[in-house]
Amino acid sequence: MNIFHIVGARPNFMKVAPVLSALQGRQGVTQTLIHTGQHYDVNMSDVFFQQLGIPAPDVNLAVGSGSHAQQTAEIMLRLEPVVLERRPEIVLVYGDVNSTVATVLVCAKLGVRVGHVEAGLRSFDRSMPEEVNRLVTDQLADLLFTPSEDGDKNLAHEGIAPEKIFLVGNVMIDSLVRLLPAARETSRRELPERYALVTLHRPANVDDSARLKGILESLLEVNRDLTVVFPAHPRTRKRIVDFGLNAGQLRLLDPCPYVDFLGLQSRATVVITDSGGIQEETTYLGVPCLTVRENTERPITVSMGTNVLVGRDPEKLRSELARVLAGKAKKGSIPPLWDGRTGERIADVLTKLS
Ligand code: UD1
Repeated sequence: MNIFHIVGARPNFMKVAPVLSALQGRQGVTQTLIHTGQHYDVNMSDVFFQQLGIPAPDVNLAVGSGSHAQQTAEIMLRLEPVVLERRPEIVLVYGDVNSTVATVLVCAKLGVRVGHVEAGLRSFDRSMPEEVNRLVTDQLADLLFTPSEDGDKNLAHEGIAPEKIFLVGNVMIDSLVRLLPAARETSRRELPERYALVTLHRPANVDDSARLKGILESLLEVNRDLTVVFPAHPRTRKRIVDFGLNAGQLRLLDPCPYVDFLGLQSRATVVITDSGGIQEETTYLGVPCLTVRENTERPITVSMGTNVLVGRDPEKLRSELARVLAGKAKKGSIPPLWDGRTGERIADVLTKLS
């Protein structure tokens, strides 16, 4: 069985690594790794391949940045001939980025089976580009690998046949479990004992100057109590400069490699973020997470984990931060099947396919 894996953006890389490694050496399996080139900076891509031990891609489509339509269309145009020529039996896509939806559109029309890793997550907010990607991907995929039961329920509600759905757990946690010991060894970067780790890159937060200004003001306020360490996505850094905003005393860093960032998370007093994956990683690590969004496609991190949605309300951020500083942060537990063995479960399903 020839299996294609298609990845393109930073959050795909920690998800593909465990599946590639679980399928490695299974009888009758050959694997082809395709990078769309959606992310191309060394510190958004290459460094992740190195640290996660992912082999160099067999094909790089080198699409680069663009509008959603441009990027998605470019991936489709460049991927179609590769699929036609190499005729994979199954194509695996990961997460909810433009590379994911572009691939599923190409493969569905060519009659090639697709498996979606991290299926079923829903924010129910279609203003979020990823929500559109999730909805389309799950409608067209043939195998849907879900991280938690809420995913199964969402898919059932959308009329997806139960025999297509496999509750396998959270594959990103496989990478975390494997590399946490190395992460704990990373340098403390001359950081104080207590600090707030911040990431922000959602268009809704960073593409609007008033919104970004408001968030930065809140962070400068946080910084009075707790050093703010802020590895900035290229998009966010560009916006701060373009809008002429003041990141003042905040410790703005370049995007961090995977292991280093995991080290920063594991030691943080609190994490403030709008990322999806970080809500999950902090839940696993038991680190308090304040999510600067009105909704989440990962509700289990709120119901079981350490995540609190603070939305757009600076007052809520203030009060939740005060709780953390007072040692009264919400306690959480690790959701079922977030155990480091999800890649193996996916490989088991795939190798039993006829
Ligand atoms: C993409 C994903 C998002 C994910 C995020 C993680 C979609 C719709 N969005 O958002 O779900 O959480 O990745 O990073 O797929 N840029 C660089 N260097 C790079 C890549 C991007 O400088 O290597 C800059 C470019 O200015 C680019 C901008 O970042 O225009 C946005 O990149 P893009 O891939 O469009 O979306 P992300 O914001 O990274």
